[in-house]
Amino acid sequence: MATPDVYVQLGTPDPLFSKIINSPRLNPSPKETQESLKRSFAKYLAGDNMLSPVGKLFNPSKHLTFEEPSYVHTMEDIGYPSSNGVSPIAVSEPFRLFSEEAVNIMRDEILDPEVQEKYSYTSDIAPRQIRGYAPKYAKFIFEAWKHPETLSIISKIAGVELVPVMDYEIGHINMSVPGAKIKCNKDAPVTEDDEEAIVGWHRDSYPFVCVLMMSDTTGMVGGETALRTGTGEIKKVRGPSKGCAVVLQGRYIDHQALKAFGGQERITMVTSFRPRSPRVRDDTVLNTVRPISNLSDLYGQAVEYQLENAESRIRDMLRNVRESMKAGATDVQSIKSFLDFEIKTLSHLNKEIVEESMVKKGFVGEVCVAGNKRNKVE
Ligand SMILES: [Fe+2]
Repeated sequence: MATPDVYVQLGTPDPLFSKIINSPRLNPSPKETQESLKRSFAKYLAGDNMLSPVGKLFNPSKHLTFEEPSYVHTMEDIGYPSSNGVSPIAVSEPFRLFSEEAVNIMRDEILDPEVQEKYSYTSDIAPRQIRGYAPKYAKFIFEAWKHPETLSIISKIAGVELVPVMDYEIGHINMSVPGAKIKCNKDAPVTEDDEEAIVGWHRDSYPFVCVLMMSDTTGMVGGETALRTGTGEIKKVRGPSKGCAVVLQGRYIDHQALKAFGGQERITMVTSFRPRSPRVRDDTVLNTVRPISNLSDLYGQAVEYQLENAESRIRDMLRNVRESMKAGATDVQSIKSFLDFEIKTLSHLNKEIVEESMVKKGFVGEVCVAGNKRNKVE
């Protein structure tokens, strides 16, 4: 029986997963990765992007103003093995993504009083977040992040084909209140590096994020993302200006958002992504989002996409098993690997679906406590 290439060993090393997953990928060197990205960008900018648009509001020729990032840092650049995550890419420098007009349409959608009233969340690490309003109240935002050309750009930068994790995570908004300084958690061990942090050390719930700046940053100082490298050093990546974005593999890198000074409003839009392939292992956790979500929507959509992925893998395996039976050559090892993988994947998902009564609304700070402890221990 042919062994399916279903199980790709990427992500935080886990001995149980590692045992059952075969990686067909070769990890390219940082230099090879940079050269490959350069070729991809050149092709994209030369117009090799003949993908049909979806929706009617978002027009890529008008609303996408993509300019290649000046540099894309690899995992190896910041001292991590390139196999740590779902891609060898760590983080991009800021790059132009959407036009001024596009960002202004997005602003109109999220600043709608009904959206502000119905979808605002407050937590111990952020005064105001707006989540789960698309597509119902934000058709343009929804189309912009779902459009094949946008996905092509994000995927090329990320070094892996990506899709939004689920509709619920499209266009998460962080709105900062001028002058307010929010500590991650009063019990968290604070280091010098935390002094200017508005969100303490943490790892994201999902593999990749794209953070879009929606405010005019003229006169703004700070606002960088600080990364903790594999050797324990702190590296800062410049914050984007209006219409610009950064792509970060935040599930696998300790990072913190640094405070911006300047007194003006600062609105960022964070859209989370996962690999399109159901064959790449899914390390998604929901701890950073459960306390600030409509759990019915979050759980429903998380379970839906993970079951769709499982369905695809099961169909492939079923085909292989049927073919092998015809040939009279059942591969026991392959079947056991498949079953182990599915059990682990569904058990992991089961742990993430926490009873509603156990979820402390608005308490996200413990994620940062864990991040700070990790920094102290390692
Ligand atoms: Fe983050």
